[in-house]
Amino acid sequence: KITPVLLAGGAGTRLWPVSRRTFPKQFSSLTGDETLFQATIRRFVGPDYTRPLVMANEDFRFIVSGQLEQMGVSGATIVVEPVGRNTAPAILAAAQMVAAGNPRGLVLVAPSDHMISDAVAFSETVMKAAEIAETGRIVVFGVRPDRPASAYGYLELAEEEGDFQMVRRFVEKPATDHAADMLARGNCLWNAGIFLFQAQTMIDEFRNHTPEFLAPVQASLDLARRDTNFLRLADAPWRELPDRSLDYAIMEKSGNIAVSPLTCPWADLGGWDSVWQETVAACPNGNAVVADGGSTAIDCQNVLLRSEGDDLQVVGIGLRDTIVVATSDAVLVADLKRAQDVRLAVDALAAKR
Ligand code: GDD
Ligand code: MG
Repeated sequence: KITPVLLAGGAGTRLWPVSRRTFPKQFSSLTGDETLFQATIRRFVGPDYTRPLVMANEDFRFIVSGQLEQMGVSGATIVVEPVGRNTAPAILAAAQMVAAGNPRGLVLVAPSDHMISDAVAFSETVMKAAEIAETGRIVVFGVRPDRPASAYGYLELAEEEGDFQMVRRFVEKPATDHAADMLARGNCLWNAGIFLFQAQTMIDEFRNHTPEFLAPVQASLDLARRDTNFLRLADAPWRELPDRSLDYAIMEKSGNIAVSPLTCPWADLGGWDSVWQETVAACPNGNAVVADGGSTAIDCQNVLLRSEGDDLQVVGIGLRDTIVVATSDAVLVADLKRAQDVRLAVDALAAKR
Protein backbone atom coordinates (compact mmCIF):
# COMPACT_ATOMS: atom_id res chain seq x y z
CA LYS A 1 0.00 0.00 0.00
CA ILE A 2 1.03 3.57 -0.63
CA THR A 3 1.23 6.09 2.22
CA PRO A 4 -0.34 9.38 1.08
CA VAL A 5 1.41 12.42 2.51
CA LEU A 6 -0.47 15.67 2.16
CA LEU A 7 1.41 18.94 2.29
CA ALA A 8 -0.92 21.41 3.91
CA GLY A 9 1.41 23.85 5.61
CA GLY A 10 1.81 26.55 2.97
CA ALA A 11 0.53 30.08 3.42
CA GLY A 12 -0.82 30.54 -0.13
CA THR A 13 -0.01 34.24 -0.12
CA ARG A 14 -0.59 34.72 -3.86
CA LEU A 15 -4.31 34.17 -3.34
CA TRP A 16 -4.71 37.01 -0.89
CA PRO A 17 -7.19 38.33 0.24
CA VAL A 18 -9.15 35.06 0.20
CA SER A 19 -6.10 33.14 1.43
CA ARG A 20 -4.84 34.45 4.78
CA ARG A 21 -1.90 33.49 6.94
CA THR A 22 -4.29 32.06 9.48
CA PHE A 23 -6.61 30.50 6.90
CA PRO A 24 -4.79 29.62 3.67
CA LYS A 25 -6.32 28.74 0.34
CA GLN A 26 -6.09 24.96 0.63
CA PHE A 27 -8.80 25.13 3.29
CA SER A 28 -11.17 27.17 1.11
CA SER A 29 -13.31 26.00 -1.76
CA LEU A 30 -12.11 28.09 -4.67
CA THR A 31 -14.06 26.33 -7.38
CA GLY A 32 -16.23 23.57 -5.88
CA ASP A 33 -18.14 22.48 -2.78
CA GLU A 34 -15.37 20.69 -0.94
CA THR A 35 -12.25 22.55 0.06
CA LEU A 36 -9.08 21.84 -1.97
CA PHE A 37 -7.66 19.99 1.03
CA GLN A 38 -10.75 17.78 1.34
CA ALA A 39 -10.79 17.02 -2.39
CA THR A 40 -7.13 15.95 -2.11
CA ILE A 41 -7.82 13.66 0.84
CA ARG A 42 -10.69 12.12 -1.11
CA ARG A 43 -8.31 11.05 -3.92
CA PHE A 44 -6.40 8.87 -1.47
CA VAL A 45 -9.18 7.05 0.32
CA GLY A 46 -9.33 3.46 -0.88
CA PRO A 47 -7.76 0.01 -0.85
CA ASP A 48 -4.47 1.09 -2.48
CA TYR A 49 -3.63 3.57 0.27
CA THR A 50 -2.88 3.54 3.99
CA ARG A 51 -4.35 6.23 6.21
CA PRO A 52 -2.91 9.61 5.31
CA LEU A 53 -0.17 11.62 6.95
CA VAL A 54 -1.04 15.29 6.87
CA MET A 55 1.92 17.63 7.23
CA ALA A 56 0.63 20.92 8.59
CA ASN A 57 1.75 23.49 11.07
CA GLU A 58 0.77 24.79 14.43
CA ASP A 59 -1.57 27.48 13.09
CA PHE A 60 -3.65 25.16 10.92
CA ARG A 61 -3.91 22.02 12.99
CA PHE A 62 -7.50 22.52 14.10
CA ILE A 63 -8.58 23.53 10.60
CA VAL A 64 -7.13 20.22 9.35
CA SER A 65 -8.75 18.10 12.05
CA GLY A 66 -12.08 19.92 11.62
CA GLN A 67 -12.12 19.41 7.85
CA LEU A 68 -11.20 15.71 8.20
CA GLU A 69 -13.94 15.23 10.76
CA GLN A 70 -16.47 17.02 8.56
CA MET A 71 -15.82 14.53 5.76
CA GLY A 72 -15.87 11.52 8.10
CA VAL A 73 -12.20 10.55 7.61
CA SER A 74 -10.70 9.07 10.75
CA GLY A 75 -7.29 7.69 11.56
CA ALA A 76 -5.18 10.29 9.76
CA THR A 77 -2.03 11.41 11.54
CA ILE A 78 -1.65 15.15 11.57
CA VAL A 79 2.03 15.99 11.85
CA VAL A 80 2.42 19.43 13.36
CA GLU A 81 5.49 21.43 12.33
CA PRO A 82 6.37 24.02 15.00
CA VAL A 83 7.16 26.57 12.24
CA GLY A 84 6.99 26.35 8.46
CA ARG A 85 10.36 25.38 6.95
CA ASN A 86 8.99 24.71 3.47
CA THR A 87 8.58 21.30 1.87
CA ALA A 88 12.04 19.68 2.13
CA PRO A 89 11.97 19.08 5.91
CA ALA A 90 8.28 18.11 5.84
CA ILE A 91 8.85 15.49 3.13
CA LEU A 92 11.96 14.11 4.82
CA ALA A 93 10.03 13.78 8.11
CA ALA A 94 7.30 11.83 6.32
CA ALA A 95 9.89 9.57 4.65
CA GLN A 96 11.57 8.89 7.99
CA MET A 97 8.21 8.06 9.60
CA VAL A 98 7.34 5.57 6.86
CA ALA A 99 10.87 4.11 6.78
CA ALA A 100 10.69 3.37 10.51
CA GLY A 101 7.98 0.80 9.67
CA ASN A 102 9.21 -0.26 6.22
CA PRO A 103 12.15 1.36 4.40
CA ARG A 104 10.80 0.14 1.06
CA GLY A 105 7.31 1.50 1.77
CA LEU A 106 5.97 3.72 -1.02
CA VAL A 107 5.24 7.36 -0.21
CA LEU A 108 3.11 9.63 -2.39
CA VAL A 109 3.55 13.31 -1.60
CA ALA A 110 0.72 15.54 -2.74
CA PRO A 111 0.20 19.27 -2.37
CA SER A 112 -3.23 20.12 -1.01
CA ASP A 113 -3.91 23.03 -3.35
CA HIS A 114 -4.27 21.28 -6.70
CA MET A 115 -7.30 20.65 -8.83
CA ILE A 116 -7.36 17.21 -10.44
CA SER A 117 -10.74 16.58 -11.94
CA ASP A 118 -10.40 12.97 -13.17
CA ALA A 119 -9.77 10.87 -10.06
CA VAL A 120 -9.86 7.55 -11.95
CA ALA A 121 -7.26 8.54 -14.55
CA PHE A 122 -5.09 10.03 -11.80
CA SER A 123 -5.20 6.84 -9.78
CA GLU A 124 -4.26 4.73 -12.84
CA THR A 125 -1.26 6.97 -13.46
CA VAL A 126 -0.16 6.61 -9.83
CA MET A 127 -0.42 2.82 -9.93
CA LYS A 128 1.77 2.63 -13.06
CA ALA A 129 4.24 5.04 -11.50
CA ALA A 130 4.42 2.85 -8.39
CA GLU A 131 6.17 0.18 -10.47
CA ILE A 132 8.86 2.69 -11.42
CA ALA A 133 9.23 3.90 -7.82
CA GLU A 134 9.80 0.29 -6.75
CA THR A 135 13.01 0.31 -8.80
CA GLY A 136 14.42 2.99 -6.47
CA ARG A 137 13.65 6.10 -8.52
CA ILE A 138 11.86 9.26 -7.41
CA VAL A 139 8.91 9.56 -9.76
CA VAL A 140 7.58 13.00 -10.66
CA PHE A 141 4.50 13.69 -12.74
CA GLY A 142 4.83 15.74 -15.90
CA VAL A 143 2.30 18.16 -17.29
CA ARG A 144 2.44 19.46 -20.87
CA PRO A 145 3.23 23.20 -20.63
CA ASP A 146 1.09 25.69 -22.54
CA ARG A 147 2.99 28.89 -21.67
CA PRO A 148 6.42 29.87 -20.27
CA ALA A 149 5.10 30.17 -16.72
CA SER A 150 7.74 30.84 -14.09
CA ALA A 151 5.64 29.45 -11.24
CA TYR A 152 6.57 25.83 -11.95
CA GLY A 153 9.46 23.42 -11.98
CA TYR A 154 10.59 22.27 -15.45
CA LEU A 155 11.59 18.71 -16.29
CA GLU A 156 14.05 18.45 -19.15
CA LEU A 157 13.67 14.93 -20.47
CA ALA A 158 16.57 12.58 -21.13
CA GLU A 159 16.82 10.78 -24.47
CA GLU A 160 14.39 7.89 -24.40
CA GLU A 161 15.98 4.67 -23.17
CA GLY A 162 14.87 1.71 -21.09
CA ASP A 163 11.45 1.09 -19.64
CA PHE A 164 10.74 4.57 -18.39
CA GLN A 165 11.52 8.18 -19.06
CA MET A 166 14.27 9.74 -16.93
CA VAL A 167 14.73 13.46 -16.25
CA ARG A 168 18.01 14.96 -17.46
CA ARG A 169 17.66 18.24 -15.63
CA PHE A 170 15.16 19.68 -13.16
CA VAL A 171 14.91 23.48 -13.20
CA GLU A 172 12.81 25.05 -10.46
CA LYS A 173 10.92 28.23 -11.31
CA PRO A 174 13.03 29.56 -14.20
CA ALA A 175 12.65 33.17 -15.29
CA THR A 176 10.13 33.56 -18.12
CA ASP A 177 12.76 33.90 -20.88
CA HIS A 178 14.63 30.82 -19.69
CA ALA A 179 11.29 28.95 -19.55
CA ALA A 180 10.53 30.12 -23.10
CA ASP A 181 13.92 28.77 -24.29
CA MET A 182 13.19 25.40 -22.76
CA LEU A 183 9.73 25.32 -24.35
CA ALA A 184 11.27 26.17 -27.71
CA ARG A 185 13.60 23.19 -27.43
CA GLY A 186 10.47 21.13 -26.84
CA ASN A 187 11.73 18.33 -24.62
CA CYS A 188 10.33 19.50 -21.33
CA LEU A 189 7.32 19.17 -19.07
CA TRP A 190 6.10 21.00 -15.98
CA ASN A 191 6.58 19.33 -12.65
CA ALA A 192 3.13 18.73 -11.18
CA GLY A 193 4.58 18.89 -7.65
CA ILE A 194 3.54 15.32 -6.77
CA PHE A 195 6.31 12.91 -5.79
CA LEU A 196 6.27 9.11 -5.48
CA PHE A 197 9.17 7.14 -3.99
CA GLN A 198 10.25 4.46 -1.57
CA ALA A 199 10.88 6.01 1.84
CA GLN A 200 14.53 4.97 1.87
CA THR A 201 15.13 6.37 -1.63
CA MET A 202 14.30 9.87 -0.42
CA ILE A 203 16.38 9.51 2.75
CA ASP A 204 19.35 8.42 0.59
CA GLU A 205 18.87 11.45 -1.66
CA PHE A 206 19.05 13.73 1.38
CA ARG A 207 22.16 11.89 2.56
CA ASN A 208 23.79 12.52 -0.84
CA HIS A 209 22.73 16.11 -1.44
CA THR A 210 21.70 17.88 1.76
CA PRO A 211 22.78 15.74 4.73
CA GLU A 212 22.40 18.71 7.12
CA PHE A 213 18.64 18.08 7.20
CA LEU A 214 18.86 14.50 8.47
CA ALA A 215 19.78 14.94 12.13
CA PRO A 216 17.44 17.83 13.02
CA VAL A 217 14.46 16.16 11.32
CA GLN A 218 15.18 12.85 13.06
CA ALA A 219 15.58 14.65 16.41
CA SER A 220 12.26 16.44 15.94
CA LEU A 221 10.62 13.06 15.34
CA ASP A 222 12.38 11.31 18.22
CA LEU A 223 11.30 14.02 20.64
CA ALA A 224 7.82 14.46 19.13
CA ARG A 225 4.80 14.43 21.39
CA ARG A 226 1.60 12.59 20.57
CA ASP A 227 -1.49 14.56 21.43
CA THR A 228 -4.71 12.81 20.28
CA ASN A 229 -4.33 12.55 16.49
CA PHE A 230 -1.63 15.22 16.36
CA LEU A 231 2.04 14.33 16.28
CA ARG A 232 3.75 17.48 17.47
CA LEU A 233 7.34 17.67 16.23
CA ALA A 234 9.91 18.93 18.72
CA ASP A 235 10.43 22.64 18.39
CA ALA A 236 14.15 23.28 18.93
CA PRO A 237 15.69 20.99 16.28
CA TRP A 238 13.01 21.96 13.73
CA ARG A 239 13.83 25.66 14.08
CA GLU A 240 17.47 24.93 13.15
CA LEU A 241 16.40 23.68 9.72
CA PRO A 242 16.91 25.84 6.64
CA ASP A 243 13.75 27.01 4.89
CA ARG A 244 13.97 25.16 1.57
CA SER A 245 11.61 23.43 -0.82
CA LEU A 246 12.26 19.87 -1.97
CA ASP A 247 12.65 21.20 -5.50
CA TYR A 248 15.76 23.22 -4.59
CA ALA A 249 17.09 20.89 -1.87
CA ILE A 250 16.87 17.63 -3.82
CA MET A 251 15.17 17.71 -7.20
CA GLU A 252 17.56 20.16 -8.88
CA LYS A 253 20.50 18.04 -7.68
CA SER A 254 19.32 14.47 -8.08
CA GLY A 255 20.15 12.31 -11.08
CA ASN A 256 17.62 9.71 -9.99
CA ILE A 257 14.33 11.16 -11.24
CA ALA A 258 11.91 9.38 -13.52
CA VAL A 259 8.85 11.03 -14.98
CA SER A 260 5.38 9.74 -15.53
CA PRO A 261 3.15 11.90 -17.72
CA LEU A 262 -0.03 13.08 -16.09
CA THR A 263 -2.83 12.59 -18.55
CA CYS A 264 -5.70 13.95 -16.48
CA PRO A 265 -6.52 17.67 -16.23
CA TRP A 266 -4.38 19.31 -13.55
CA ALA A 267 -4.10 22.79 -12.13
CA ASP A 268 -2.15 24.33 -9.30
CA LEU A 269 -4.39 27.09 -8.04
CA GLY A 270 -1.33 29.00 -6.97
CA GLY A 271 -2.43 32.48 -7.95
CA TRP A 272 -5.42 34.39 -9.27
CA ASP A 273 -4.11 33.93 -12.81
CA SER A 274 -4.52 30.16 -12.50
CA VAL A 275 -7.96 30.52 -10.91
CA TRP A 276 -8.78 32.75 -13.87
CA GLN A 277 -7.40 30.11 -16.25
CA GLU A 278 -9.59 27.40 -14.71
CA THR A 279 -12.75 29.44 -14.58
CA VAL A 280 -12.91 32.42 -16.93
CA ALA A 281 -10.67 31.00 -19.67
CA ALA A 282 -12.61 27.75 -19.56
CA CYS A 283 -15.92 29.51 -20.31
CA PRO A 284 -17.33 28.78 -23.75
CA ASN A 285 -17.01 32.33 -25.10
CA GLY A 286 -13.60 32.83 -23.52
CA ASN A 287 -14.31 36.31 -22.30
CA ALA A 288 -16.85 35.63 -19.61
CA VAL A 289 -16.66 36.89 -16.08
CA VAL A 290 -16.82 34.85 -12.94
CA ALA A 291 -19.01 36.67 -10.53
CA ASP A 292 -19.41 35.03 -7.15
CA GLY A 293 -21.78 36.48 -4.62
CA GLY A 294 -23.70 39.12 -6.46
CA SER A 295 -21.11 40.69 -8.73
CA THR A 296 -21.98 42.36 -12.01
CA ALA A 297 -19.81 42.89 -15.06
CA ILE A 298 -20.74 45.31 -17.80
CA ASP A 299 -18.70 45.21 -21.00
CA CYS A 300 -15.77 43.44 -19.35
CA GLN A 301 -13.29 41.07 -20.96
CA ASN A 302 -10.92 38.56 -19.37
CA VAL A 303 -11.94 39.75 -15.96
CA LEU A 304 -12.25 37.81 -12.76
CA LEU A 305 -14.67 39.53 -10.39
CA ARG A 306 -15.10 37.83 -7.10
CA SER A 307 -16.83 38.82 -3.90
CA GLU A 308 -16.87 36.74 -0.76
CA GLY A 309 -20.40 36.91 0.58
CA ASP A 310 -23.77 37.63 -1.01
CA ASP A 311 -24.09 41.03 0.60
CA LEU A 312 -20.93 42.35 -1.01
CA GLN A 313 -21.52 43.69 -4.51
CA VAL A 314 -18.67 44.12 -6.96
CA VAL A 315 -19.38 45.92 -10.20
CA GLY A 316 -16.94 46.17 -13.08
CA ILE A 317 -17.52 48.37 -16.11
CA GLY A 318 -15.40 48.30 -19.24
CA LEU A 319 -12.52 46.41 -17.61
CA ARG A 320 -9.94 44.34 -19.50
CA ASP A 321 -7.51 41.70 -18.13
CA THR A 322 -8.21 42.55 -14.52
CA ILE A 323 -8.68 40.69 -11.28
CA VAL A 324 -10.94 42.08 -8.58
CA VAL A 325 -11.36 40.16 -5.35
CA ALA A 326 -13.34 41.67 -2.50
CA THR A 327 -13.68 40.32 1.01
CA SER A 328 -15.23 41.96 4.06
CA ASP A 329 -11.97 43.67 5.05
CA ALA A 330 -9.80 43.86 1.93
CA VAL A 331 -10.08 44.44 -1.81
CA LEU A 332 -7.55 43.38 -4.42
CA VAL A 333 -7.52 45.06 -7.83
CA ALA A 334 -4.74 43.77 -10.08
CA ASP A 335 -3.62 43.47 -13.65
CA LEU A 336 -4.09 39.84 -14.68
CA LYS A 337 -0.44 39.71 -15.87
CA ARG A 338 0.78 40.79 -12.43
CA ALA A 339 -1.18 38.19 -10.48
CA GLN A 340 1.98 36.48 -9.18
CA ASP A 341 3.01 39.77 -7.56
CA VAL A 342 0.18 39.59 -5.03
CA ARG A 343 2.72 38.06 -2.68
CA LEU A 344 4.62 41.39 -2.74
CA ALA A 345 1.50 43.13 -1.46
CA VAL A 346 1.16 40.59 1.32
CA ASP A 347 4.79 41.11 2.33
CA ALA A 348 4.29 44.88 2.29
CA LEU A 349 1.19 44.60 4.46
CA ALA A 350 2.97 42.30 6.91
CA ALA A 351 5.89 44.73 7.15
CA LYS A 352 3.51 47.55 8.10
CA ARG A 353 2.15 45.65 11.10
N1 GDD B 1 3.69 20.89 5.63
C1 GDD B 1 4.14 21.93 4.93
N2 GDD B 1 5.09 22.73 5.49
N3 GDD B 1 3.64 22.16 3.72
C2 GDD B 1 4.11 23.23 3.03
C3 GDD B 1 5.10 24.09 3.54
C4 GDD B 1 5.61 23.83 4.86
O1 GDD B 1 6.46 24.53 5.43
N4 GDD B 1 5.34 25.05 2.61
C5 GDD B 1 4.54 24.77 1.57
N5 GDD B 1 3.77 23.69 1.82
C6 GDD B 1 2.77 23.04 0.95
C7 GDD B 1 1.81 24.00 0.27
O2 GDD B 1 0.65 24.18 1.08
C8 GDD B 1 1.49 23.28 -1.01
O3 GDD B 1 0.42 22.36 -0.81
C9 GDD B 1 2.75 22.46 -1.31
O4 GDD B 1 3.47 22.40 -0.09
C10 GDD B 1 3.65 23.06 -2.41
O5 GDD B 1 4.07 24.34 -2.02
P1 GDD B 1 3.88 25.60 -2.96
O6 GDD B 1 4.42 26.78 -2.25
O7 GDD B 1 2.48 25.66 -3.48
O8 GDD B 1 4.88 25.22 -4.15
P2 GDD B 1 4.83 25.81 -5.62
O9 GDD B 1 3.48 25.65 -6.22
O10 GDD B 1 5.39 27.20 -5.57
O11 GDD B 1 5.89 24.87 -6.40
C11 GDD B 1 5.80 23.45 -6.34
O12 GDD B 1 4.67 22.98 -7.05
C12 GDD B 1 4.67 23.26 -8.48
C13 GDD B 1 3.43 22.65 -9.11
O13 GDD B 1 2.31 23.07 -8.45
C14 GDD B 1 7.10 22.91 -6.98
O14 GDD B 1 7.16 21.51 -6.71
C15 GDD B 1 7.17 23.17 -8.48
O15 GDD B 1 8.29 22.52 -9.04
C16 GDD B 1 5.91 22.64 -9.15
O16 GDD B 1 5.92 22.92 -10.55
MG1 MG C 1 1.59 25.36 -5.37
